[in-house]
Amino acid sequence: MRFADRVAVVTGAASGIGRASALKLAAEGAHVFASDIDEEGGQALAASSNGKIDFIRCDVTNSADIEALMNAVAQQAGGIDILFNNAAAGGDRAPIDEISPEGWDQSMSLILKSVAMGIRYGAPHMKNRPTTKNGGAAIINTASVAALGAGYSPTAYAVAKAGVLHLTKVAATDLARYGIRVNAICPGFINTNIFTSSLELPNEMREQANAMIASASAQAQPVARGGAPEDIANAVAYLASEESSFMTGTHMLVDGGLTIGQRHAWDPNSPGMFDALATMEAPAGGAL
Ligand SMILES: NC(=O)c1ccc[n+]([C@@H]2O[C@H](COP(=O)([O-])OP(=O)(O)OC[C@H]3O[C@@H](n4cnc5c(N)ncnc54)[C@H](O)[C@@H]3O)[C@@H](O)[C@H]2O)c1
Repeated sequence: MRFADRVAVVTGAASGIGRASALKLAAEGAHVFASDIDEEGGQALAASSNGKIDFIRCDVTNSADIEALMNAVAQQAGGIDILFNNAAAGGDRAPIDEISPEGWDQSMSLILKSVAMGIRYGAPHMKNRPTTKNGGAAIINTASVAALGAGYSPTAYAVAKAGVLHLTKVAATDLARYGIRVNAICPGFINTNIFTSSLELPNEMREQANAMIASASAQAQPVARGGAPEDIANAVAYLASEESSFMTGTHMLVDGGLTIGQRHAWDPNSPGMFDALATMEAPAGGAL
C-alpha cells in the first residue's frame, strides 16, 4: 500500500495506459480521481472500483476544464499528491509539407499544452502536502519513444511529445522549491486503442486491429511480446512513489528495447547493413 492516504489525478483514465495506472494506484491505496472525455468509460471504471476511484469529466484541450478538475479534486480531497498527465491521441497525421495550421495547433493543444496546463493548475494544489517532505509529491507526464527520434509517429505528435520531455525537465526546476518531482515516461508500442481510436471501426474490428499491431510490435523489439498498459502502470507507480525520490526532470523508457538499435543487433537471423552490402553484386565495371 505505497499510496495509502495519497490523492492521485489521472487524465485519459477511461482506456489503456491511464485506466491501468488508475487501477494500479488505487490498488496500492490511493484515492484516485480519474478523468477523461469518455464519460461512459470513466463512469464504468469508477463504478467497478469499490469507491476507490471517482470520475470527473475533463477535456484536456480545454484549460478551463483542467482548472475545474484540479480545483474540484482539491476541494473534495484537500489537495493532490500524484498527478499523471496522460491523456492524448494521435493528432494530425499529415507530413510537415502538408499539415494545416489548424491541424498543427490542434495537435499541440491535445498533446503538449494539455500537459503544461495540467501542471499549471495541478501543482498549486500539490504544495505543502505532507508527502512533499519525503519525495511523494510527484507529477508524471506521458511522452513517447516518438519524442526521441523519427519514424514512430506522425510529425506533429513526435514534436509535441518531444516538447513534453523538455517541459518535464524545465517544470522539475520550477517546482523543486516545493518538493514536487516531475518525470516522464516514454512508452514503446503498447496494446491500447490509440492506434484505432481515430478510425470509425466496430468493436470487434478494433480488437482485431489492436491484436495485429500487438503481434507486429512483438517482432519489432528485443522483448518478444507486445507491451501491455500494465507495463506502463508499473513505471507510473514507481515514479509516483518514494522509491524514485532521487529522480526528477528525467524520463523512463519502457519500450521492450524498441529503441536500442537496428534489428540485426539483437536478432541473429536479421542481416545487418554490412552483411547486406557484402552480398550485393558490384555494378558492372566497378567496385562497391
Ligand atoms: N499505446 C502506445 O503505444 C503509446 C505509445 C507512446 C505513448 N502513448 C501515450 O500514452 C497515452 C495514453 O494513450 P493510450 O495508448 O492509453 O491510448 P487510449 O486511446 O487507450 O487512451 C487515451 C485516453 O485519452 C482520452 N482522451 C483523448 N482525448 C482526450 C481529451 N481531449 N481530453 C481528455 N481525455 C482524452 C481517450 O478518451 C482515452 O480514454 C497518450 O499520451 C499516448 O500518446 C501511447
